Amino acid sequence: MLRSLLIALSQNSSLRSVMESSSPGRKVSGRFVAGTTVADALRVTRELNAQGFAVTADSLGESVRSEGEARAAADIYHQLLDAIAAEGMNANVSVKLTGVGMDVSPELAESTTGGIVEHAAQLGNFVRIDMEGTPYTEATIALTERLHAAYPGAVGAVLQAYLYRTADDTARLLRQGIRIRLCKGAYKEPGNLAFPQKSDVDANYVKLMKMMLPSGVFCGIATHDTAMVAATEQFAKEQGIDHSAFEFQMLYGVQRELQRDLVKRGFGVRVYLPFGTDWYPYFMRRLAERPANVLFLAKNFFKI
Ligand code: FDA
Repeated sequence: MLRSLLIALSQNSSLRSVMESSSPGRKVSGRFVAGTTVADALRVTRELNAQGFAVTADSLGESVRSEGEARAAADIYHQLLDAIAAEGMNANVSVKLTGVGMDVSPELAESTTGGIVEHAAQLGNFVRIDMEGTPYTEATIALTERLHAAYPGAVGAVLQAYLYRTADDTARLLRQGIRIRLCKGAYKEPGNLAFPQKSDVDANYVKLMKMMLPSGVFCGIATHDTAMVAATEQFAKEQGIDHSAFEFQMLYGVQRELQRDLVKRGFGVRVYLPFGTDWYPYFMRRLAERPANVLFLAKNFFKI
């Protein structure tokens, strides 16, 4: 129930403007968000690289409503890609299609995202297209396929283990050699599209991981769930799959001890690093994933 409430609040515009404009709100969000500017993202990327983590940087922003906003959002990614290349950082970028114009028009999103992927390809870097709610699933996969055909290896997809369709999508993308980030899924979806029970989502996650790891296509195992991490480690060991065939991916500020432990034991770990002024919906989805985070929020909000 708390999860549903927090997901509903993540779409509440009044609470959003209070949180984003208040100083306590910004300080509390610092647990999960790198800061508001490109310079903040680069500073934290340097720190994470020094600790042995790769990074994927996400300029926060969802559902932009005008072409100008979409192009301005894309510009931030162009700045990031240039700065990453200039400093030789171990980092790529993650893009949400609604953040670069999908709700204005699919053509606009294709143009902005295509520009970002083309730029990444020129620099030898990589763009991950995040997956959003089911109204966008097919369009996101199809756009990733077209961009992969134009810039092979410079773009990858995200698939969500909670959706019934994902086993088919996994086979479809692996056939084309498209890199996949596997996550459980963060949106509220109806029972006819997504497994309602966590145990079914977890079982599907393990099944999909077992399709991905031996495929020869480099995969991102994105989870903080120690059971999923253990299942991945065990399967890789049993099948003799080298650590270089995949990486773990986790969100900035979540399960930090586990992140450090995996790096120490020789696994690749990429930290998903969000930054930007539009941090509220992202932050609320992170609270929804773990009710204990609400206690953390309350304690720190009133301390400041
Ligand atoms: P689960 O929710 O079962 O959590 C397992 C354990 O991890 C919890 O018991 C808790 O200990 C810890 N944990 C999980 N979330 C936490 C949090 N917020 N704070 C503290 N502890 C927490 N989703 C999506 O729909 N589209 C996308 O593109 C992406 N992209 C993405 C990238 C990366 C790198 C990650 C790690 C995740 C995503 N996600 C995502 C989010 C994903 O779908 C999912 O909502 C979260 O990762 C939570 O699921 P877990 O696999 O961590 O397991």
